[in-house]
Amino acid sequence: MDNTAYPWKTVWITGASTGIGRQLALSLAASGVKVAVSARSAGKLAELAAGQSGISVYPLDVTDRAAVAAAAAAIADEMGGIDLAIFNAGTWHPSEAVDLDGAKAATSMAVNYLGVVHGIEAVLPRMRQRGLGHIAFTGSVAGYRGLPKSCHYGPTKAALINLAETLSIELKREGISVTIINPGFVDTPMTQVNDFPMPFLMTPEDAAGTILKRLPRKPFEIAFPWQLVRQLKFTQLLPAFLYIRLIRRLLGLNAKPKT
Ligand SMILES: NC(=O)c1ccc[n+]([C@@H]2O[C@H](COP(=O)([O-])OP(=O)(O)OC[C@H]3O[C@@H](n4cnc5c(N)ncnc54)[C@H](OP(=O)(O)O)[C@@H]3O)[C@@H](O)[C@H]2O)c1
Repeated sequence: MDNTAYPWKTVWITGASTGIGRQLALSLAASGVKVAVSARSAGKLAELAAGQSGISVYPLDVTDRAAVAAAAAAIADEMGGIDLAIFNAGTWHPSEAVDLDGAKAATSMAVNYLGVVHGIEAVLPRMRQRGLGHIAFTGSVAGYRGLPKSCHYGPTKAALINLAETLSIELKREGISVTIINPGFVDTPMTQVNDFPMPFLMTPEDAAGTILKRLPRKPFEIAFPWQLVRQLKFTQLLPAFLYIRLIRRLLGLNAKPKT
């Protein structure tokens, strides 16, 4: 198929073995974009590439800084300059605050935050040399404010939102755009473990469709679904003490739990 739908020739996606990343890869490749896919599960990536032409497989663990750098170099050599990188790999360890666990926090930060940093540092020099490039990474609406059960995950996504602002301020003059993608709930293996209601749950197809519709305009943020985003953005306007009171009240977290 002729590559006319999107402005990119070569796209690299991490966290592409399942969920949102997998769907992004399928949709882009079906439109004629050359897509490099990465994740740890080499078998799932190979299946993905076997089912859709235009997909090339670069398995890696995003916590392995050298492996991420090597993959970026190999993709540039074998597929051409990376026009768009979507750093999307992530992990979710839902826990209540009383179960805060340093090991889970370290894994979450290593995958969700440092995994993105490793990707950015790997593509940045070549993008700067070319004077163009688009770096996108997947945060979450859970990064807007502290949320229950999110003591390991939320801080990693808040860090990404902050990082995106810093990079966006400084990289524009290099010709490099930065987009933070903040989804609400999407029905993927990540959320299938959840035992709580997930309002406005979306399919990976709808999530990927929304992302790919908006990315060519290079916005700073892509956040969806709007119904959830609107509510959560409103809470960002509240001072912390009011926000905390509101959430405690809404979730009935004022009384000590019965043991
Ligand atoms: N689903 C939601 O409701 C939701 C909401 C907001 C944000 N997000 C974010 O969206 C992104 C994609 O999540 P998803 O919902 O599509 O979940 P998913 O289906 O579980 O996908 C997570 C992806 O990350 C990869 N991954 C995990 N650890 C990795 C590591 N150490 N190295 C390389 N790849 C790794 C996984 O592949 P392997 O296991 O094969 O490595 C998989 O491809 C994540 O950043 C997530 O935080 C999701």
